[in-house]
Amino acid sequence: MKSAVEALFDLSGRTALVTGASSGIGAAVADALAGAGADVIRAGRDRDRLGPDGISVDLADGIGAAERLAGLVDARVDALDILVNCAGTNPRPPLDAIDEGLWRDILAVNLDAVFALGQHYGPRMAARGWGRIINVASTQAHRAFGNSGAYGVAKAAVAGLTRSQSEAWAPHGVCVNSITPGLVATPMTTAVVDDPARADYFRSRAHTGTLGTPDDFAAVAVFLAGAGSRFVTGQNLCVDGGLSVT
Ligand SMILES: NC(=O)c1ccc[n+]([C@@H]2O[C@H](COP(=O)([O-])OP(=O)(O)OC[C@H]3O[C@@H](n4cnc5c(N)ncnc54)[C@H](OP(=O)(O)O)[C@@H]3O)[C@@H](O)[C@H]2O)c1
Repeated sequence: MKSAVEALFDLSGRTALVTGASSGIGAAVADALAGAGADVIRAGRDRDRLGPDGISVDLADGIGAAERLAGLVDARVDALDILVNCAGTNPRPPLDAIDEGLWRDILAVNLDAVFALGQHYGPRMAARGWGRIINVASTQAHRAFGNSGAYGVAKAAVAGLTRSQSEAWAPHGVCVNSITPGLVATPMTTAVVDDPARADYFRSRAHTGTLGTPDDFAAVAVFLAGAGSRFVTGQNLCVDGGLSVT
């Protein structure tokens, strides 16, 4: 029998979809939700890293691709309780080098998929009276950071969309929040982290004096996905070692 506190973080019987689950933060979040008892469906592109039960989808293909993903998920589960939008791409071209195709790809993965999966699952969760949506934003929602280009635009929109989704569905038991990572060592940030001067600069700006690791997102994801967060919604939670307040 679980204690009252354990029940706040217990995800037994819950179903979850995590996009971006083949790597980095999304993989750690998917493992954490599964560790807390959820039945987790992992989506990304790389079948090998997703495992045999993962769903491979290229979200750069636009809203239709996100809708196809939702269709595949719905074929597996009766209902989805937890949606984590973690897939992201940040190719970092100088702004002048962003043509229409790259603009569309970056917005499709980082923003359109978040919108489309929210449109699909938010109303369904609301109709059932319970749900959790966690979107992954970025410090680039609020400040430039080395060729933020279209990526920063998309992440700023994700922060705004999170508030709108909360406004729409929290009255029906669906809490919607975003997480803003600091600088976390993952394949996405290799170019920054492998540059000793830049890595040291970001360490020195974080209050912890460290960069983040994907595992730093495990506990916060379980909290935001669980019963304990029922009065936490529309928020952006910085998991950044204090970077955002230096
Ligand atoms: N690391 C940081 O410092 C940091 C800071 C701020 C925000 N973030 C955000 O955190 C999230 C996770 O990033 P990460 O650092 O963990 O990076 P990562 O290790 O590179 O993971 C990115 C994930 O997104 C998936 N993805 C990328 N393009 C995709 C596409 N076209 N279709 C479907 N899936 C796609 C990748 O799948 P495949 O590998 O299978 O293609 C991978 O699972 C992203 O939203 C990112 O913007 C990260």
